[in-house]
Amino acid sequence: MARFRRLGPKSQFELLVLAATELAQGASLKVAEGVAEWAAAILGVFLWSKQLEIALAVAEHRRDAVHACHGVGKTFLAALLALWWIASHPAGTALVVMTAPTARQVRTILMRELGRLHAKGRLAGRVTLDGWQIDGQLVAIGLKPADGDPVGFQGYHAAHVLVILDEAAGVPKALWDAADSLISNEGSRLLAIGNPDDSRSYFAAICRPGSAFHVVGISAYETPGFTGEAIPDELRASLISPGLGQGAGERVGAREPAVCRSGAR
Ligand SMILES: Nc1ncnc2c1ncn2[C@@H]1O[C@H](COP(=O)(O)OP(=O)(O)O)[C@@H](O)[C@H]1O
Ligand SMILES: [Mg+2]
Repeated sequence: MARFRRLGPKSQFELLVLAATELAQGASLKVAEGVAEWAAAILGVFLWSKQLEIALAVAEHRRDAVHACHGVGKTFLAALLALWWIASHPAGTALVVMTAPTARQVRTILMRELGRLHAKGRLAGRVTLDGWQIDGQLVAIGLKPADGDPVGFQGYHAAHVLVILDEAAGVPKALWDAADSLISNEGSRLLAIGNPDDSRSYFAAICRPGSAFHVVGISAYETPGFTGEAIPDELRASLISPGLGQGAGERVGAREPAVCRSGAR
């Protein structure tokens, strides 16, 4: 971390070249460390251990699925990884395609989180609720359900495509297939995140052993609020917690982990 403290925002390029080099070398662990350092130095964000594990998984595996209860930082990390994906690849070689089951989830949750982090890091280009453009080039797009049909997914090509499916349990199978066609080259990735509370969903199926996905699960009991993992107080206040008051704490602690397990095992 120390090596980045002295760097101002203008030195981002140095960081990004480092991250891209590490990615090219397949040094996944270093990449995860690189994401953590980039997040801290550029965005002023602390990632907790499971968020880092997900970053590492994306660096290592073509297809990743993250099943977890709500309030563990999945969407936040997805937005951060979208920014990092573009920042860590040479200009013009990378693209992020994001979708979720509803326009509200894409625009007012995922893209809004991305926009906030983009502003915090004073990153290049301009973010709207539809996407992120740098020098007139679309580098990240949030596809709304209306254009989230398989056809809407066509035509997006780059050497490094990152497809993100948020609230993946509600994403129809046809879109999964379309997403898969976007990541046909080695440098591309598919990250599906959600709560597999519908055991009949395709997401729940791919979270089970034997699928083509590398699966990361996060039970509420593994989150800092329950384990005591050292994290900044500000982050602790945002994540799922047993201390929401007696009734709410019991409800969260007792119900959510069971929900996490139900669809994925
Ligand atoms: N590493 C982090 N640093 C700061 N805030 C975070 C971090 N991770 C999550 N958050 C915040 O915690 C809250 C819950 O995160 P979110 O991504 O919405 O969880 P999930 O998608 O798992 O339900 C949000 O307000 C989000 O901005
Ligand atoms: Mg979410």
